[in-house]
Amino acid sequence: MSKNKFIYILGIESSCDDTSAAVICNGKILSNVVANQEIHAKYGGVVPELASRAHQQNIVPVIQQAIQKANIDKKDLNAIAFTRGPGLMGSLLVGTSFAKSLSLGLNIPIIAINHMQAHILAHFIDDEDQQKPPFPFLCLTISGGHTQIVKITNYFEMEVLGETLDDAVGEAFDKSAKILGLSYPGGPLIDKYAKLGNPKAFQFTKPRVQGLNFSFSGLKTGILYFIQKKVKEDPDFIEDNLHDICASIQYTIVKILFEKIKKAVEQTGIEHIAIAGGVSANSEIRKVLKSMEKKYDWTTYIPKFEYTTDNAAMIAVVGYLKYLENDYSNENIGATARLKVSQN
Ligand code: KG4
Ligand code: ZN
Repeated sequence: MSKNKFIYILGIESSCDDTSAAVICNGKILSNVVANQEIHAKYGGVVPELASRAHQQNIVPVIQQAIQKANIDKKDLNAIAFTRGPGLMGSLLVGTSFAKSLSLGLNIPIIAINHMQAHILAHFIDDEDQQKPPFPFLCLTISGGHTQIVKITNYFEMEVLGETLDDAVGEAFDKSAKILGLSYPGGPLIDKYAKLGNPKAFQFTKPRVQGLNFSFSGLKTGILYFIQKKVKEDPDFIEDNLHDICASIQYTIVKILFEKIKKAVEQTGIEHIAIAGGVSANSEIRKVLKSMEKKYDWTTYIPKFEYTTDNAAMIAVVGYLKYLENDYSNENIGATARLKVSQN
């Protein structure tokens, strides 16, 4: 086989608080290095200025590691894919500028990637542990910044059928965790403690939102008032009931999500359902989605754990798909904080 039958793409992700680089060869991930920024935990959320500084520090070693782990030389790379948006401007600029400089140095093309499309298209990474969905399929994209039901007609033809009107589901997890005094990001902690609790111990009011849209800010306020009231009556309430509280919060969130997915299936007749984004790492969401296969005859697609939260493997696979179409970006392309999933 001649050498150019192997296409090597470097993916770079720096949209929020994870600096990540990955190398993909013909759809298979050779390396996927992620440097989490622990600095934000003590502030209870991502501090944009600190995130961009940490990206600046991490980006060179992370990319070097990704190339080393892939066991290639940077001269073997055919193109560089990077997250153009959406995300924090100061964070995006680090990855964007680095991608452009490296492409100039290596004299290879750059490919700008939409982060939200990448979360969804992570399902197209060649990996024996995950199945690729056929078109059209529906994807519930759930992260710290987004909550959307998206109809995917083709790789780059996506339509939002419903989305949150206020907080994202990841924020609902993280803000609830903060109310309980848990550290940031609280989503994984709620997941962990919920495993030991009774999901029906406490009831929280679900929002009433028309159509396929979501709302989570009312739920967060409801949880805040409930906890404040209970702690007034008993200062040890949180400590004594942490597992039950977490299980009840998670149960409510999962119910809200699945009521809408069911509705989306009814409306579209599409029964291939995928999940994507950081919150799709949640064990209960994964379990409930899997159970829908038997209950409703759906086929479901659950991403491998490492492709759920922000990572460059998902950027690299979209880079590969675009490379096959010669869909390169102009060197003048800039980072953009706001970018819809339907925008290429
Ligand atoms: O996709 P992501 O890494 O970053 C964004 O683009 O937002 O998602 C991060 C979000 C955070 O809100 C985090 O708490 C949540 O994903 N998350 C989880 C779990 N793992 C990560 N939420 C619930 N359960 C989990 N296991
Ligand atoms: Zn993300």
